[in-house]
This record gives sequence, C-alpha cells and structure tokens, in this order.
Amino acid sequence: MASKLFSAGQIGTLTLPNRLIRSATQDPFGKRDGTCAPEQVALYRDIAASGVGAIITAYSYISPEARSTGIQVGFATPEQRASQKEVLDAVHAAGGRLILQIMHAGMNVFMSEKHVAGGKLLAPSGDMKAPNDMMTTEMTTADMDKIRADFVDAALAAKEMGFDGVQLHCAHGYLLSQFLDPNTNLRTDEFGGSAENRFRFPGQCLSAIREAVGKDFPVLVKVNTNCAGEADAAYAEDILYFCRQFQALGADAIELSGYNWLPLGKKKVPTFYLERAGAIRKEVTIPLILVGGVRSVEGADQILDAGLDFVAASRPFICQPDFYQYLEKGEESLCIGCTKCLGNIWTKEGRRCVKHEIPEGFPKA
Ligand SMILES: Cc1cc2nc3c(=O)[nH]c(=O)nc-3n(C[C@H](O)[C@H](O)[C@H](O)COP(=O)(O)O)c2cc1C
Ligand code: SF4
Repeated sequence: MASKLFSAGQIGTLTLPNRLIRSATQDPFGKRDGTCAPEQVALYRDIAASGVGAIITAYSYISPEARSTGIQVGFATPEQRASQKEVLDAVHAAGGRLILQIMHAGMNVFMSEKHVAGGKLLAPSGDMKAPNDMMTTEMTTADMDKIRADFVDAALAAKEMGFDGVQLHCAHGYLLSQFLDPNTNLRTDEFGGSAENRFRFPGQCLSAIREAVGKDFPVLVKVNTNCAGEADAAYAEDILYFCRQFQALGADAIELSGYNWLPLGKKKVPTFYLERAGAIRKEVTIPLILVGGVRSVEGADQILDAGLDFVAASRPFICQPDFYQYLEKGEESLCIGCTKCLGNIWTKEGRRCVKHEIPEGFPKA
C-alpha cells in the first residue's frame, strides 16, 4: 500500500500536496544585517522545486533585541522583510509553500554582551546565567506587552506579504519555551509556577496573533514535548495541557519537538518523540507534526500510522535539499545525524553538511 506520506494534507486553509514538511532550519548564508543572501533564495527555491509539502523558514527574530545569533535572519526591519519576500517569491515561483517561523531568543543569545540591546538580557526569570555569560533580568509585564506586539506585527506583515502561514517558536530553549519550561521559569507571579501560569504568556502571544490575522491565516506552533531533569515527569502532563490550550486558542497545527533533539540524532532513533506525541494525539484534534529522526519512508510511516498528520525533517534537507525526491524513490537520507552542520554555520567556509558534498547544482556556501 502506498505510504500516506505521499497523500495531500490540510493545515487550516493551507493544502499541502504531501505530508513532508521541511522543519525550520538556520543555514550559514545569513548576513550580519539580518537580511537573506542570494544563496538562501536559491536554496529555498530548490527545496520547494523538489516537491516537499511545505517549508518552514529559519527562525526569524521579531525585533533587534530578540536576536539569537549574528548570522540569523531577521523579520524586524523593512530591509529584512524585503529580503525574506525574495525568498518567498522564489518558493512560490517554484510551486512551493513557505511558513515563516517567528521567535524571540529570551536568554538564549549566543552573542557577546555588547550586542544585547539596552545592556539587559530579558528572560522569564532574573539572575540566571545565560549562554553568553550574562545574568538575566526578569521581564516586566510592560516588556511582555512589547514582545507580544512585536509578534503580532510580524505575523500581520507575514500575512500581508503572502506567506502561507506563520509558526510561533515555542521550542528549543527560546523565549516562549523558557516560559513553558519549569527549569527556566522560576517566576512567582501569574506567569510562573503552575502549567496554567507558565502557559499564560505564550498563550497570550498566540491569541493576539490569531485575533490580528483572522481565522483564515494558518498559525502553527512548535513546542517541546519534554524538558530536562526531574521536572520532565510533571512536564509530561503539562504538555498535554499546553497542546489543548494551543488548540483552544486557535492554533492550526502543532509541531512536536524536544529540548534534546541534538544528541538524539546521533543515536539514530527513527522518530524522537513518538511516545509523547501519541499521548498528545489523544488530547487534540488539530493536525500534529512530528519532527526528529525521520530519514526514510518507513520512519515517516511509523509517525503517520500512529495517527499524526505530518512529518517534518531538518538535517536530511541539509545534505540533500531534494530529500523529498529520494523518499519518492524509496531511498533513505544520507544524513548520519552528526549535527556538525550546526556548529559549521558559524565557520568561515560555512558549509552546510560537513559530511557530504552538497549535490551538484545546489548552493554550497
Ligand atoms: C543546522 C540546524 C539549524 C536549525 N535551525 C532551527 C531553527 O531555525 N528553528 C527551529 O525550530 N529548529 C531548528 N533546528 C532544529 C530542526 O528544526 C529539527 O527540529 C531538529 O533538527 C530535529 O530534526 P531532524 O532530526 O530532522 O534534523 C535546526 C537544526 C539544525 C541541524
Ligand atoms: S553535517 Fe551532514 S550528515 Fe551531519 S547531521 Fe548535518 S546534514 Fe547530517
């Protein structure tokens, strides 16, 4: 029987010709001013032309102080938005669909102190050591109001520019997942403590976006299904609540990831978070997307047969931008999950896959 992977699927008003989504992936092409380079336009065009169901952009910061790394693409200034429009137009011209991932780094800024606006590293909780060695400052509700407004502004602009949807980044240790995660949210006010309180700010951002863009514009969420340490036992219940709330507040789909996606790739687990995803499946009816470890049609089938709606992948598209066509032929990804591509984003050569030559005809960097 033909795999469901190759059948059409629906996310809100968006129809995807198949069930494979290129998950958000930063690449080494970003320019220091946060605009996209010509290689990015070419790469996205090529991924779209390969027939993938949809592409989610790299995480794009919504304001200058929301930035995580120096070569990250932004969606904050008119120049950055204009350059992302070039990528969008190239994807559409190639017959593809492009969803913009919007984010705020919170305490996860990997640049030195001098790059942090206003000298403060705002995070859900204060007095925590951030990756750039700064100590965090607890956000006020006024700070949160500003960030929520920035998310809304970005989502509205994305809609007006013709993006096929936005994805609110609530995963991988960035601001909204810092709120959800009890390890990074130690607040004692109505935004910290219980799952309900930790969800409050991410929920407010989603609601505000939904209200602004209307019901017909696809709004997706990406979230961690787990968290580090002992807190994970309770988080297994919390994530069910978070997903029910995302649905109640109007999310069109939820992409399920985890805080530890990076080391799991090396272990060759075919589907990282399937167990948690199965529990979430019983709680919500909106489309669920599972990312992590998918390298073959068999891996994708495991996810789809478990009742999830879409599979997403990142690293396979790094070494083979036309990964979808390999799956169509029944071939597996060449990716070995070493994740050296991540570190390589910042190297001078900026090669995407360190293990394999990028196939002829694709942007190499
Ligand atoms: C080089 C690289 C860049 C990534 N950039 C992003 C990103 O911008 N936003 C995001 O949500 N996840 C990002 N991820 C994580 C992927 O979207 C995905 O969740 C993870 O790699 C697991 O999927 P995989 O096993 O198919 O690679 C990145 C991963 C890699 C390897
Ligand atoms: S460097 Fe290449 S082989 Fe290694 S994880 Fe990245 S894409 Fe896969």
